Amino acid sequence: MIPFAQLSQNFTKLVLSHQPTPLEVAARMSSLLGIKLLIKRDDCTGLAGGGNKTRKLEYLLADAQKHQADTLITIGGIQSNHARQTAAAAAKFGFDCELILQDVAGAPTDNYSENGNILLNSLCGATVHKLSINDDCQQFAQQRINELTSTGKKPYLIPIGGSNVIGSMGYVQCAYELVQQINQQQHRVDHIVLATGSAGTQAGLLAGLIAADSDIPVLGINVSRPVTEQNPLVEQLLRQVLQALQLDPALAKNRVHTNGDYYGEGYGISSSVSESAIKLLAQQEGLLLDPVYTGKAMAGLIDLVHSGQLKPNSTVLFLHTGGSQALFAYRSCFNIPIYS
Ligand SMILES: Cc1ncc(COP(=O)(O)O)c(C=O)c1O
Repeated sequence: MIPFAQLSQNFTKLVLSHQPTPLEVAARMSSLLGIKLLIKRDDCTGLAGGGNKTRKLEYLLADAQKHQADTLITIGGIQSNHARQTAAAAAKFGFDCELILQDVAGAPTDNYSENGNILLNSLCGATVHKLSINDDCQQFAQQRINELTSTGKKPYLIPIGGSNVIGSMGYVQCAYELVQQINQQQHRVDHIVLATGSAGTQAGLLAGLIAADSDIPVLGINVSRPVTEQNPLVEQLLRQVLQALQLDPALAKNRVHTNGDYYGEGYGISSSVSESAIKLLAQQEGLLLDPVYTGKAMAGLIDLVHSGQLKPNSTVLFLHTGGSQALFAYRSCFNIPIYS
């Protein structure tokens, strides 16, 4: 195993998150499913509600500081968790923050544009540009960069989901943290399951596992694309991360597995299996998932256990990447009585 300090010597980071996040046994779900279900609590990274983007932002903000930037710009859907964590990170380190957020086709109407993450962005002082479905966000971002630069500001563009080599370093580090916890708690993990979207979480995690000499398979449950699109996205970024770490990009071969059966009608559109998984985890474990990412990933995990693709008595580790702040934007999807 290459020591992490040596592996990451070309990267700097700021501290934004609570680390290590807990690795817990989900006892009631384990007995319900007939497996050992472990949950890595990256919903508890701590920054304004936490989530996976906080680890990425530690590296991205350090890079922004290195470039003497004063304004962070990023892009996402209206209920982007990444945008919320970027707004909070910007506040903590004194950057201005501009969020370019796009409507999502098929998303709920009540609460979606005013509650959940979008409310928290404004609380953290971010400037929010709301774009409609047919607008070109990248073009708008470039326009804002030009405008800000012409007034003497120094903008720094963080890609969608923080998913470039620098952001993925957060999950290279998480892999080391996880391997240490798995060893300390004496688990033998057969599978890691997580939600995969812009790909940096899965790519970073895989690069870290490869560098740490761990061959635990990682299954991404796609939240927006079929396997034919998501697999190459993850693999391309994984190769770039391996290269940046001075490892052989060919080590990416046969490491990327994703499943496109659970994203339903599309990104940001809640599904009934995801809503059932959200209710189940809340009622069995007191654990909050979300309709866009972790609810769909957990629905996939449960279904793969039921179909025998995740074997009885195996140990499955679910990487909880956060997102429950979006529940409030999806209120209308949960037709549950509030009062008796
Ligand atoms: C809660 C949550 N889970 C998972 C993901 C997917 O991570 P990635 O975009 O790195 O694939 C995101 C991305 O926004 C997220 O907000």
